[in-house]
Amino acid sequence: MNETMKKIMSLAKRRGFVFPSSEIYGGVEALWDFGPLGAQMKQNIKREWFSRFVQKMDNVVALDSTILMHPNVWKASGHVENFTDPLIECKSCNSRFRADHMVDGRFVGQGEAKEPNQCPECGDRDFTPAKHFNLMFKTFLGPVEDDSHITYLRPETAQGMFVDFKLVQESMRLKLPFGIAQAGKSFRNEITTGNFFFRSREFEIAEIEFFCKPGEDEKWFDFWLNAWEQFYIDLGLKKENLRRYEHPKESLAHYSKRTVDIEYKFPFGWGELAGIANRTDFDLKQHAKASGRDLSYRDEETGKKYLPYVIEPTMGIERAMLALLIDAYEEVKGARTTTTEAAKESEVVLKLSKKVAPVQVAVFPLVKNKPEVVAKAKEVYNMLKAHFACQYDEVGAIGRRYRRQDEIGTPFCVTVDFDSLEHNDVTLRDRDTMGQKRISIKELVETVRIDFNA
Ligand code: GAP
Repeated sequence: MNETMKKIMSLAKRRGFVFPSSEIYGGVEALWDFGPLGAQMKQNIKREWFSRFVQKMDNVVALDSTILMHPNVWKASGHVENFTDPLIECKSCNSRFRADHMVDGRFVGQGEAKEPNQCPECGDRDFTPAKHFNLMFKTFLGPVEDDSHITYLRPETAQGMFVDFKLVQESMRLKLPFGIAQAGKSFRNEITTGNFFFRSREFEIAEIEFFCKPGEDEKWFDFWLNAWEQFYIDLGLKKENLRRYEHPKESLAHYSKRTVDIEYKFPFGWGELAGIANRTDFDLKQHAKASGRDLSYRDEETGKKYLPYVIEPTMGIERAMLALLIDAYEEVKGARTTTTEAAKESEVVLKLSKKVAPVQVAVFPLVKNKPEVVAKAKEVYNMLKAHFACQYDEVGAIGRRYRRQDEIGTPFCVTVDFDSLEHNDVTLRDRDTMGQKRISIKELVETVRIDFNA
């Protein structure tokens, strides 16, 4: 694994962002738990997504549909037949690879072979022919384990929005164009894994099915591509680390007329963060046919009935988090803090934006053995806790405490000292400039105010 990825993986585990699932049993490939800081950071990303794309938009509504659905959903959607990856196996060491991830004879993101057409694991060149492998996890509805009770864990949240299209439209009296938004768990039995939690078997997707008049689809495609990309920039990703990838016609998913991915420059190469697809009326048509229900929309002005077209912007929440951690990671040589001990080492600073940082303000009493200072610090902490994600820390030298917060990306640290008792003020330290200023406690919330709705 790439050195930067190793460092981020180690930091993520040590500081409570991400742990291997079932770690005490040796972990499970491609399954990850999000620890206290990771869970908070994921929550922050989802909150930003929901606020921007549901709350603040006039024509997008939310949905929370089930993970397990009627088995016919997956037949009609084409997933039973088409949701496959081409798997090839090295005949010598049985390592498995995605044939569609081979570029110029090398398996992109699946290990490094010395020469093209070699197995990255053992160097042999003899592979089995590609076999198509369905990525959906199968399970049974009810106690009887026979074919008539098979269903699947959803591999995307989209289908819930298609099958509930009519219910949502009628209950909310929506007129085209409008979107249904959903974020939630999705499951894929991925063949190739690795690169930390980039490709997992359980992850969260946040996506919108945006229904519009046929003929207006291309305009809305451009709108959503720009809006989706801007979201990453506003979360703090550097623009130069993002690019768009237009899928060639021959590699489009079975439902898509056009797909553009938004990619991030990961340390292991460019990788997909998100995608915008023009799904046309494919899904509504399929579900109307399979269910026998009329899923068409009636235009009140013209009286005409038709199936809307659908533009689908989609993104992976964990992939956004991984890109944000990588983008924010900096190693700074020399002292950022005042301790001479720290000056000898390089320090890690996560320059996460205030919106996504798992801890937004840390509060320290300068000393822990003076009850009045501790009591005042706790009072300040309790006040801030009502507005921000806060952490209270009284352990170790102040410089060490700053370093611990820098490493997890905390934008602000507040120190309560002896002067605070007399003047009702504190020291506010900014993570990026390391500038410190005295602020009256009364003004602290307003000064730190993070405009989550900006
Ligand atoms: N409804 C469309 C759809 O599901 P997708 O490109 O297959 O599209 C959506 O998946 C997003 O989910 C991707 O852009 C990616 O960010 C994320 N994603 C896909 N597979 C993933 C995996 N195995 N692990 C983590 N994230 C994944």
